[in-house]
Amino acid sequence: MLLGLFDSGIGGLTVVRELLKRHPRASFVYLGDTARAPYGNKTEETIRQYAIEDAAFLLGQGATHIAVACNTASAVALDALRQTFPRVTFLDVISPTVEAVQNKDKKIGVIGTRATIRSGTYEKELKEKLPDADIYSVACPLFVPIVEENWITQPETKKIVRRYLSPLKQQQIDALILGCTHYPLLQDVIRMSLQKRVRIIDSPSAMLDKIGREIPELITPSDEPRQDYFFTDLSLHTERIASRWLKRNIEGLLATLP
Ligand code: DGL
Repeated sequence: MLLGLFDSGIGGLTVVRELLKRHPRASFVYLGDTARAPYGNKTEETIRQYAIEDAAFLLGQGATHIAVACNTASAVALDALRQTFPRVTFLDVISPTVEAVQNKDKKIGVIGTRATIRSGTYEKELKEKLPDADIYSVACPLFVPIVEENWITQPETKKIVRRYLSPLKQQQIDALILGCTHYPLLQDVIRMSLQKRVRIIDSPSAMLDKIGREIPELITPSDEPRQDYFFTDLSLHTERIASRWLKRNIEGLLATLP
């Protein structure tokens, strides 16, 4: 058994970070499609094609289960992935995140990339779970580049976050879903921009909770864990960010997609 994870770029490393926090000696192969990121502003067709190529690469590396560590690909490409590779188990990031919403949450905010919000996937799954809840979705396309520039605490970032979240603050939401794997890095600023009582649900933790619950053997420690980080474009910037986020020295490997 081998877990493969992919994201459009470095955002899915927040899922790896959560994995390593819980199971430092777990084995996995990560693919960040940095050459073609971001996915969030692209058409559904393109995102589907990219996701299929990402999965094919991970399967070529020996992955048996694939965690789609990208909300955008989970929202748009999951059916296409399952149809293309019917024997592979795909774990998406959206359903565990929706599961983490509680029945008492009556007003729920969702933030994500344009493609994720446009797909309506969160809204649909939330409505199935909580038919009476009010859902407020906001696309925040500037958050990904801000995170990738590591502008986490800049005053400009605080202003931008406040501006995107102001409709959610006005609605006095009970819970906010961070529907993009980049966003946990902005969690402190996001928290400051909303009422204190708002419960923040982040997709990497929800995803790891689900894997731990349903397929614990996939992330069991081994004596010599395989932990590979592939990127389709490998720059010093990518390695620096990966090392900073994961608090260890990351040497990336260059991936050539099939
Ligand atoms: N990290 C990806 C997600 O969770 C989005 C980044 C992108 O736009 O490529 O949706």
